[in-house]
Amino acid sequence: MPSVTYELPDGSVHQLDVPCGQSVMDGSVRNNLPGIVAECGGSCSCATCHVFVEEGQSTFDEPTGEELELLEYADGARPNSRLSCQLILTDGCPQVRVTVPDTNG
Ligand code: FES
Repeated sequence: MPSVTYELPDGSVHQLDVPCGQSVMDGSVRNNLPGIVAECGGSCSCATCHVFVEEGQSTFDEPTGEELELLEYADGARPNSRLSCQLILTDGCPQVRVTVPDTNG
């Protein structure tokens, strides 16, 4: 099962096993981690699931135009910014590590 490490705004680090087919956002929300709000429930329309992908970027599909457009409005966006609801884990994923910004609320 893929493993995702979440570094939260308070500096805490959580490593979770997230089943294939679920998103990085699902892993966070289902384990009640704070920081990824996911207001729209994963339909790529809110940007409150913004993360910085520190490791494992190549694992995921390239962002769609819709995702890139939303990221333009995400506070503090960087080149490694992604919407975590669009990051679907697959079999054979390498280690994935994300930082959750403190601006998702
Ligand atoms: S949960 Fe709304 S865009 Fe990801």
